[in-house]
Amino acid sequence: MAKVLYICASPRAESYSKRVAEAFLQAYRGANPQDVVETLDLFRADIPPFLAPQAKAKYAVMAGQAPQDEAQTAWTGVIKTINHFKGFDKYVLASPMWNFNIPYRLKQYIDVIVQPGLTFTYSPDKGYTGLMAGRPLMLILSRGGKYGPGDPTETYDFQETYLRGIFGFIGFTDVQSIRINGTTMNKPEQVESDTLQAIAEAKKAALVFGSPVLVGAKM
Ligand SMILES: Cc1cc2nc3c(=O)[nH]c(=O)nc-3n(C[C@H](O)[C@H](O)[C@H](O)COP(=O)(O)O)c2cc1C
Repeated sequence: MAKVLYICASPRAESYSKRVAEAFLQAYRGANPQDVVETLDLFRADIPPFLAPQAKAKYAVMAGQAPQDEAQTAWTGVIKTINHFKGFDKYVLASPMWNFNIPYRLKQYIDVIVQPGLTFTYSPDKGYTGLMAGRPLMLILSRGGKYGPGDPTETYDFQETYLRGIFGFIGFTDVQSIRINGTTMNKPEQVESDTLQAIAEAKKAALVFGSPVLVGAKM
C-alpha cells in the first residue's frame, strides 16, 4: 500500500488545477484501490509561520548547533510539518500561477519544509543532497496566460521553473507536469476543451504514476 499526498494550492472552489488533479486522483484510486490519498489544502491547513524564531533555529541547525529557547519551540513545529510531509510515497501538487509564480500559502509551506538535515543536507565534499529521492511528483499547473514555447510570455513562467527547481533541490527527480494554459485569456469553450484534454492526459498518467518504468521520464 502506497501513501499519496495531494497538496492543493488554489483557494477557489471552481479551480482548474483542482479539477484536473481530482480527475487524476480518481483514476489513480481506481487503478490502486489499496493506496491511501490524503489531501493537504494549503488555504485551510495549519501551516506554521516562518518568523524570527524559525529563522534563528534554521541558522543554528546550519551551524551545527541545537536551537535554543523560543527557537527550539519554533523548530518543533517545523519538524512536525516536515515529518508529515515526508510520510508519503508519492506526491501530487495542484497549483495556480499567481503573479508569474505560486500562491503565497504554497511558498509558506515550501519555506517550512525545505530545511537542512531534514529535507536536504550539505557537505563541503558532496555539496547539497536532497533527501526526498525516489518519490514521484506530479505537478498540475493552471495559469490565466499561455506561456508556450515561443510565446512572448514564455520567460515569465516562474511557476513551473520554480517548482521543478525547489522540489529538485530537495531530491525529487521523477517530476512530471500537466498544464492548463490560458484559463483567463482564452474563450470559455477553448478553456473547457483544454481542461478536458488535460483531464484525459491526467487520467492516462495516473494509471502509471510512480511505476518503475517511468522513473526519470518527463511528459
Ligand atoms: C492573485 C492572482 C494572480 C494571478 N496572476 C497570474 C499571472 O501572473 N499570470 C497568469 O497567467 N495568470 C494569473 N492569474 C490567473 C490564474 O493563474 C488562473 O485564473 C488560474 O486558472 C488559477 O488557477 P485555479 O483555477 O486552479 O484557481 C492570477 C490569478 C490570481 C487570483
